[in-house]
Amino acid sequence: MRARIAVLPGDGIGPEVIAEAVKVLKRVAQTYEHEFTFQEALVGGAAIDAVGDPLPAETLQLCRESDAVLFGAVGGPRWGDPRAAARPEQGILSLRQGLGLFANLRPVKVHPDLLTASPLKPDILAGVDLVVVRELTGGIYFGQPRVEGSERAVDTMVYTRAEVERIAHVAFRLARGRRHKVTSVDKANVLACSRLWRHTVDQVARNYPDVELEHLLVDAAAMHLLRRPRDFDVIVTGNMFGDILTDEASMLAGSMGLLPSASLRGDTFGLYEPIHGSAPDIAAPRSPQLWGDRGAIANPLAAILSAAMLLRYSLRLEAEATAVEGAVAAVLSQGYRTRDIAEEGKQQVGTREMGDLIELEIGN
Ligand code: IPM
Ligand code: MG
Repeated sequence: MRARIAVLPGDGIGPEVIAEAVKVLKRVAQTYEHEFTFQEALVGGAAIDAVGDPLPAETLQLCRESDAVLFGAVGGPRWGDPRAAARPEQGILSLRQGLGLFANLRPVKVHPDLLTASPLKPDILAGVDLVVVRELTGGIYFGQPRVEGSERAVDTMVYTRAEVERIAHVAFRLARGRRHKVTSVDKANVLACSRLWRHTVDQVARNYPDVELEHLLVDAAAMHLLRRPRDFDVIVTGNMFGDILTDEASMLAGSMGLLPSASLRGDTFGLYEPIHGSAPDIAAPRSPQLWGDRGAIANPLAAILSAAMLLRYSLRLEAEATAVEGAVAAVLSQGYRTRDIAEEGKQQVGTREMGDLIELEIGN
């Protein structure tokens, strides 16, 4: 098949990990005889530096004309001035909103050979397989922020019934293809938005009598995620709670560098990005003493697994997606590790070397 893929590397380790993901997609195209075209565009701090805007109109336009978007990361201390008019993060937030990508899927799976890479006990982690469905275009991220002088600042959190309904449907449908369980996470004992959320999810649940529904308050969910992570199948939650819980959940897998995500809107179009940020402290040009002759040290697997999700959800190439995921699992089983998941007795590799290993494995 033919596909147009917009590539937005962004800042920090974004370009390093996205280069590996593109390399893997090119290998997939070659092996399975597809024609993928890749077009790069500016976003985030890189776009602020070049044109003064974290999401230039041409970038948004390119995304609209593409079948899918592969996104790296944005942000860094260079653009951290709280008084600055433009912030890199506005790049990704405006993209999500501008493209209507309301459903963010963040799967968390523990590779058996990485059980000891997590600081958590292996017997708690074995068999963890969950997916967080994060509402991505509403809630407190898209309220009306107001700064009142230097003494007061206000953010507002809004959810509508329609917004909750559509994300709940995504969660229940996903659960049907999995273990038939949805955990809805809110703060209904305090927030009005959460009470609307809970009531609406209960109503949507009536359409899915075959799916078990539980409600958890977000503080309890944060605890249970570490105490009994295996019990979760699909977790559905609002924008900010989903942001926080998925960073926590990444430690189940062993590292932030392992978790991919897909941002969807109901058709096949999607934006795919690792859940990790730009990690300026380990970005190659800034820390040559860390990366030495091996190339950069960032883990490209989250970006590569995001490319697998792109193949699955936007291009409907299930066999190809599975091949990429299988290649990642195989390379980990062979004992190769980037620095974030390094272990005694395992072979440590850099960003590019890890990408090369995955590339080699595909089609094998
Ligand atoms: C994420 C990130 C973003 C978010 C930032 C960069 C705006 O943390 O994708 O999880 O908060 O959504
Ligand atoms: Mg986050």
